[in-house]
Amino acid sequence: MRRRIVAANWKMNGSQELAKSLVGDVRKGIAALDNEAEVVIIPPALYVASVQQLLDGVAQVGVQNIAAWESGAYTGEISGKMAADVGCGYAVVGHSERRQLFGESDAVIAEKVGQGIAAGVQIILCVGETLTQREAGLAVEVVSAQLREALKDVSGEQWKQVVVAYEPVWAIGTGKTATSEDAQAVHQAMRSQLSEMGAPAQDMTLLYGGSVKPDNAKELFAQPDIDGGLIGGASLKASDFLAICKAI
Ligand code: 13P
Repeated sequence: MRRRIVAANWKMNGSQELAKSLVGDVRKGIAALDNEAEVVIIPPALYVASVQQLLDGVAQVGVQNIAAWESGAYTGEISGKMAADVGCGYAVVGHSERRQLFGESDAVIAEKVGQGIAAGVQIILCVGETLTQREAGLAVEVVSAQLREALKDVSGEQWKQVVVAYEPVWAIGTGKTATSEDAQAVHQAMRSQLSEMGAPAQDMTLLYGGSVKPDNAKELFAQPDIDGGLIGGASLKASDFLAICKAI
């Protein structure tokens, strides 16, 4: 069964103060949600514990990144095992900001996927094309290659731990959203690619991310292959984030 997920990626934003007020409001709203949305809050790792405490079990918590290794001398890194150890159910892997700003390759991302799966967390694998690639008509090709590379070692029951987020790079933080038709087309192509790779594609949860706001969420989430969203900017304002959760 496909799950409907709305995940909040706070990126490197927030403070104890913000966590308190934002999560306080979000918690009340989630408790009152009357749809099937599964909500995941993904704060900077230092705030995971306080967010978990503030949420009091109404939503899951995740991390924005995990290491490509299990443990050892990797100063500054956090492992998938550690995320699982503190009760995080989800780990974002391969976000375009990690790919672009930190030079993460598909090979490194595949290692991270493996670590997260071994640790027992749900992976939210991000894929997406740049504006140049879209304009050259390469969106589906680029995204399919990213899926093939990042998920090359996944098999059998492990697919149940994989959620994919299509995040066109040109739509992230820009206010430009993919039209619901364009997003749906890529999501449909992703399902075909996943199916070719032996994944139970029809049962997998595929999210859209990139300037999702209260006024475009409903139309995006109504598309047959879009099962929810990965929300950046709008997740930092409780009323906007809750309106997006309600759009499921
Ligand atoms: P925005 O919603 O701010 O465009 O960010 C999307 C994103 O990158 C979520 O991971």
